[in-house]
Amino acid sequence: MSRTYVVTGSASGIGKATGELLIEQGHRVIGTDIRDADIVADLSTAAGRDHLVQEVTRVSGGSIDAVLAVAGLATPTAATVAVNYYGTIATLEGLRPLLLNSPNPRAVVVSSMAAIFPPDETLLNELLDGSEAKAMARAAELEASDAQQSSVIYGTTKRALSRWIRRQAPSQDWAAASIPLDAVSPGVVYTPMTADMTNDAASRAQIAAMAPMPLNGFFEPRGVATLLTWLTSEDNAHLCGQIIYIDGGSDAVLRGDLVW
Ligand SMILES: NC(=O)c1ccc[n+]([C@@H]2O[C@H](COP(=O)([O-])OP(=O)(O)OC[C@H]3O[C@@H](n4cnc5c(N)ncnc54)[C@H](O)[C@@H]3O)[C@@H](O)[C@H]2O)c1
Repeated sequence: MSRTYVVTGSASGIGKATGELLIEQGHRVIGTDIRDADIVADLSTAAGRDHLVQEVTRVSGGSIDAVLAVAGLATPTAATVAVNYYGTIATLEGLRPLLLNSPNPRAVVVSSMAAIFPPDETLLNELLDGSEAKAMARAAELEASDAQQSSVIYGTTKRALSRWIRRQAPSQDWAAASIPLDAVSPGVVYTPMTADMTNDAASRAQIAAMAPMPLNGFFEPRGVATLLTWLTSEDNAHLCGQIIYIDGGSDAVLRGDLVW
């Protein structure tokens, strides 16, 4: 049966591949992005997030079947915090009322295997249990510091996002409302986001050392899209707060026995 899906980050990479796959499967896709989308909205700002919710409400007529929060940034900047964490949460919370009108609502976000790298603890704590103002101030501090410190911004946003999913998924808002809420954590996927890391042999070797992927290595966005479409299909009725590492084995190699 045809369903209505909202995909953020629909203009490029994993979001684009997911939208295309859903349309091939016969579904309606409302794509949103900062450019080239059905709904153009900037998830780094409060106004952009409000605009997204208002426009999806208008375009959908007030009912959607799934939210796929894919949009993200991987720059060593405070904007990455605004988009990856606050933009994603605003998408999920803002569109949740529309999901309640679906007989089989689903929600999924794209986190990252980078969530397992050591985070900035101050930023992580502010994201999970502090205030947005203080988190953004800490992010600005990291952005202004050296390359090593600013490089942890991305992984920290994804660690916080994965933990937010774990906390929220079993709650009244999600599980008790019959909405499976889960995340996928990809390894290295060939998209514009990773082009600089995968363009030449030296860069590929460097990134492969950080993110070992013994099962088939770096891969195309369609591989993630297939999992995202299943997680938001009617078939997924019982996964709750799961962070699924679709990473060619990075998590199994790096965390081994720590996770079971
Ligand atoms: N490519 C990888 O290897 C990889 C690995 C792990 C996780 N991810 C995650 O997958 C998701 C998709 O990334 P991708 O690899 O397809 O990258 P991409 O750059 O191809 O796509 C990201 C999309 O997000 C959009 N976006 C960025 N800032 C935005 C904003 N302020 N408002 C609205 N939209 C905005 C971009 O315009 C773009 O279309 C991201 O959340 C990323 O962190 C990617």
